[in-house]
Amino acid sequence: MIIAPSLLAADFTSLGKEAARAERAGADWLHLDIMDGQFVPNISFGPAVVAAVRPHAKKLFFDVHLMCGKPEILLEPFAAAGADEIIVHVELGEKIPQLLWKIRALGKRVGLAINPPTAINEVQPYLDKIDLLLVMTVNPGFGGQTFIHECLPKIQQAAAWRHDRKLSYRVEVDGGINNETVAECARAGADTFVAGTSLFGARSLKGAITKMRKIAYDNDPALADLKV
Ligand code: DX5
Ligand code: ZN
Repeated sequence: MIIAPSLLAADFTSLGKEAARAERAGADWLHLDIMDGQFVPNISFGPAVVAAVRPHAKKLFFDVHLMCGKPEILLEPFAAAGADEIIVHVELGEKIPQLLWKIRALGKRVGLAINPPTAINEVQPYLDKIDLLLVMTVNPGFGGQTFIHECLPKIQQAAAWRHDRKLSYRVEVDGGINNETVAECARAGADTFVAGTSLFGARSLKGAITKMRKIAYDNDPALADLKV
């Protein structure tokens, strides 16, 4: 079980301090949303910012989510900036095999993301080549949006394929995750939870992470099975 606060919802005037705060608060990973103003209608930050933040949270795993139309030109810069995992979007189509290969060749964990309107079947050819499948639960581009419940069957399908094919990729969810929706996602089979607004917006980041982790554990079907 991984709780990954999204830096997009942090105080942009003190990103180093915010990353350090997430580490102290018990986050497992830090999620970094990279937006290029083309793949999504917003711009966030680039490799120089990630490199500047990296020394402030040395132990945190950096989960870099590329919402970019040309990720091929960004893989090396983000790898050098300190990414531990790089996620690209399946909507990029025929570029995907080479992108996944390149991320692996850079020695980074390999992630694949899918947007709410895209059919889950699109990720099928890549399941044995990835470390993480990110099922987007909002349309990417902005923090603070409302969770789209229609995405829950895709989480169930992702977890079912993992079980049936004896694979071990993580199933991550991202967008509108709070103390209610984290429970629904955990029950559907997600194990890695990205949350921006609900964590960085809380009065106590530590308290919010601790509570979200407990709710996810309490709703984890694998743990529920053990209780029978
Ligand atoms: C959305 C980003 C998310 C975002 C989540 O485009 O991919 O990672 O930061 O923010 P919240 O948790 O506020 O929905
Ligand atoms: Zn994200």
